[in-house]
Amino acid sequence: MADSKAPSGTVTIIDNTSNKQTTLPLVSGTAGPKVIDIRNLYKDLGYFTFDPGYTATGSCQSKITYIDGDEGVLLYRGYPIEQLAEHSDFMEVCYLLLFGDLPDKAQRDQFVHDITYHTMVHDQLNRFYQGFRRDAHPMAVMCGVVGALSAFYHDSTDITDPLHRKVASYRLIAKMPTIAAMAYKYAMGQPFMYPQNNLSYAENFLYMSYAVPAEPYKMNKILSKALDKIFILHADHEQNASASTVRMSGSTGANPFACIAAGCASLWGPSHGGANEEVLKMLAEIGDKRNVGQWVKKAKDPSDPFRLFGFGHRVYKNFDPRAQVIQKTAHEVLGELGIKHEPLLEVAMELERIALVDDYFIKRRLYPNVDFYSGIILKAMGFPTSMFTALFAIGRTVGWVAQWNELIEDPSQKINRPRQLYTGVTKRDYVPVAKRKAAAKAAQ
Ligand code: ACO
Repeated sequence: MADSKAPSGTVTIIDNTSNKQTTLPLVSGTAGPKVIDIRNLYKDLGYFTFDPGYTATGSCQSKITYIDGDEGVLLYRGYPIEQLAEHSDFMEVCYLLLFGDLPDKAQRDQFVHDITYHTMVHDQLNRFYQGFRRDAHPMAVMCGVVGALSAFYHDSTDITDPLHRKVASYRLIAKMPTIAAMAYKYAMGQPFMYPQNNLSYAENFLYMSYAVPAEPYKMNKILSKALDKIFILHADHEQNASASTVRMSGSTGANPFACIAAGCASLWGPSHGGANEEVLKMLAEIGDKRNVGQWVKKAKDPSDPFRLFGFGHRVYKNFDPRAQVIQKTAHEVLGELGIKHEPLLEVAMELERIALVDDYFIKRRLYPNVDFYSGIILKAMGFPTSMFTALFAIGRTVGWVAQWNELIEDPSQKINRPRQLYTGVTKRDYVPVAKRKAAAKAAQ
């Protein structure tokens, strides 16, 4: 590996069938379990590894985000998520993820200025929206419009040029809220609102979503702060499905806008970023905290495909530190909005209470994840459930962009091309259509 330390040991694999053996290097990162570098395994023993879902496979080396799922630790460039959510803001976190360190005052001001001055989209893109049905899901619109950016910004698609990469990265981070807000406005049948350069990133998104030209918009700082926190909590999560999709697309040399559109598509799934939308639907369907027991029973039934959305995580097996921050924010937002009785929050809390003492969930180490509470906040802010994943995509764009830049700058990266365990039919000869019936009969 280009950048990691020298092997900190070896692992010898003995093949009992052929009596061959190979010694593979054991490599240490700066934290987390060691990894076995298996790149010579096929050459030495003629075997591939089999790991559906990549549950035990490291696909790259990365310096961006570290997760210890057993301890509930999430670090961006070494900084604990709780500290960043409490003391930092989203622009600073973007700078940190992109460049590796927190900015000084001048760097921060410059970065905020540069992002702010990229928030408008090419005016012709406005017409692109007219091609979508009014009731199109915002994520369908996001996938299309983000992919289309490469048709509008040719001057930042040369991935071998660091300046192109930087401009494309800034454009993506800056334009994502504009694109998402436009998707919302289009669905509402309201005019698009242009970004305002005197507003912060989160404020601008609220403005573009909720302002109308007919009257001044009053910003609620508590809500914009909560939204900023939601963006921080979603900013990156190491090699999750959408980041891996971005990296896989990027490994082919595809342009950054195409790669981030691929990330949007991957995020949309209900097992990933689409879960926040599913959580709200589920809470609404449960309806009353007295019904929680029967839904928990349903989630535990192996013959029922239903799962508790917002519960469980591939990596966190103790608690999701983001869920703890966001639960507190949910209470703050509801308090600010004067919502004393929110049945969905009551159902959510009852669900969490029951599940956390239930053997099924304890044994499988299933805990509420970040999506369990984010939907309650977004609903209270007035967003329809269909917008939830689009909001996740806004926060996650910086993570995708940071992961993509790291991939492009990593000399050890190759085109991503996993192998497989083939279980299909082995070689057979083509049979002309007139003879197929007879051949099939003969084969019986
Ligand atoms: N409700 C009920 N049972 C569950 C749940 C759940 N939410 N999640 C996992 N399980 C059960 C599985 O049925 C399985 O049981 P078994 O051992 O009896 O077969 C066991 O727990 C292990 O589950 P896996 O699916 O193997 O775990 P995996 O790591 O593959 O899945 C995932 C993780 C996809 C997140 C899963 O927990 C899930 O589907 N959760 C609901 C969707 C969700 O909230 N996704 C958001 C993830 S966070 C994010 O993207 C920001």
